Amino acid sequence: MKKIIIAIDGHSSCGKSTMAKDLASKIGYTYIDTGAMYRAVTYYGLTHDMFEEDGTIRLEQLEAAMDDIHISFVFNEETRRPDTYLNGEYIEDKIRGMEVSAHVSPIATVGFVRTAMVAQQQEMGKQKGIVMDGRDIGTVVFPEAELKVFVTASAEVRAQRRYDELKGKGQEASFEEILENVKERDRIDSSREISPLRQADDAILLDNSNLTIPEQNEWLYEQYLRVASED
Ligand code: DC
Repeated sequence: MKKIIIAIDGHSSCGKSTMAKDLASKIGYTYIDTGAMYRAVTYYGLTHDMFEEDGTIRLEQLEAAMDDIHISFVFNEETRRPDTYLNGEYIEDKIRGMEVSAHVSPIATVGFVRTAMVAQQQEMGKQKGIVMDGRDIGTVVFPEAELKVFVTASAEVRAQRRYDELKGKGQEASFEEILENVKERDRIDSSREISPLRQADDAILLDNSNLTIPEQNEWLYEQYLRVASED
């Protein structure tokens, strides 16, 4: 089997990261959640008072701080998944709540933020043997990735999944609010000027609205076997 780069893009909350993590752990690849990186920058902005009352970001302040934002992932042996750290602080639980979710899309539209994140992501994938999920992995970060998948599901199905996930962690959640947030993020992610969310021409489309997690994992594993065993 050759070592490849697997790029998984798609809409928010459609189970991309679940399938990407499960595949990486099954085949011994490194998993990188690029959404967590934009969330970490957002968390930094929120904890350093960089947002105006109306939710807009103070760009000059953020740009000046970019060199002080160091994001890393540490593999958690217990959960078998990587945890996100910001400047050495564990922030995995802090970046998944509604506050970061509500502020992250505008951060992901900022050119200098994207340039910095993409450079780090390309560095992480240099050795191949990586599963990376996000919005622009197959189009911008690794246009030469051997396997590209574009995942989607209906907005309602995605909102329900995020609702269940938050409830499962004992966090407060309103289905209506989450549905609005999912739709708003789709709108911003797809219409932004820099690296908008779009399916790469050579990506395989997967609508998983009616698939169980084991079914979608099996599907992805088959795609991997097919591509990694090609000459
Ligand atoms: O996948 P997620 O919901 O954790 O992503 C958080 C936000 O970051 C979402 O608004 C899309 C954005 N994002 C991006 O623009 N590019 C990526 N490669 C990954 C995420």
